[in-house]
Amino acid sequence: MNENSYETIEVRREGRVGVITLNRPKALNALNEQTMQDVVAAATELDRDSGIGALILAGSEKAFAAGADIKEMSGKSASDMYHEDFFAGWDAFARLRTPKIAAVAGYALGGGCELAMMCDLILAADTAVFGQPEIALGVIPGMGGTQRLTRAVGKAKAMDMILTGRQMRAEEAERSGLVSRVVAADELMDTALEVAGKIAEMSKPAAQHAVETVNAAYESGLWAGVQHERRVFHGLFSTADQKEGMSAFAEKRTARFSHE
Ligand code: HXC
Repeated sequence: MNENSYETIEVRREGRVGVITLNRPKALNALNEQTMQDVVAAATELDRDSGIGALILAGSEKAFAAGADIKEMSGKSASDMYHEDFFAGWDAFARLRTPKIAAVAGYALGGGCELAMMCDLILAADTAVFGQPEIALGVIPGMGGTQRLTRAVGKAKAMDMILTGRQMRAEEAERSGLVSRVVAADELMDTALEVAGKIAEMSKPAAQHAVETVNAAYESGLWAGVQHERRVFHGLFSTADQKEGMSAFAEKRTARFSHE
């Protein structure tokens, strides 16, 4: 797919970093079926590219994404939702192996907050607002919010947000462990590019395995996670990047990773 032929997103490359920008300004980047297809297609292509070592997903200054597209969903029956397995397509994005950063400014509500949480880390502008307002629409989060928000901020805050629809501003989100860093809005993209660029310089297999193994902390018990980590750690000694990284240290030079 040509990188500029998507309907709802813009895609660009900055060195080893792939940047996907949601682009439905009139709907505050509400996530419809087309957006899901576009993001998953573009991100999958970048993920498979050995020349790309990290991804950034961004929105606009006003909204990262104001949620799933309410107008698209509103008339559907339970049977429609079940047969379409509505929004299960996003799982492919969540499971990508290349480290992915959500750069969030403005609203990250409902599915927008859930999409940010599918990323491996969230960088927030000081304008960012996170929330799960689905309860006010007569539903609950449906793209992983009840699970990922609870793991990120704990039961007390997750219950508060999901039951009342209360929004969390950037400073509280950082304090609560939802976001890694908060920066001034006009520095958000530069910071995201700096962090993504730093990750992309690292050995890609090492970074991919780090993502998989940190995520295992959320998906398994402690002992199973520790054993998984050890197996992955051992396995990385089969990569050229491990040999290069450790030799470079001993020789007091910068490693030149081949990402293999
Ligand atoms: C469809 C949306 C939308 C959404 C905004 N728009 N959010 N369209 N789905 N989620 C549209 C508005 O209808 C409007 O279109 C335009 O974007 C601008 O929005 P305004 O409301 O006029 O802007 P503003 O007054 O600045 O308010 C911003 C806002 C508000 C506070 C973010 O738009 C809002 O509350 N949006 C809904 C947030 C929400 O409930 N998200 C959760 C969705 S459910 P027009 O045509 O009038 O200009 C969800 C479930 C996930 O995400 C699970 C899926 C399975």
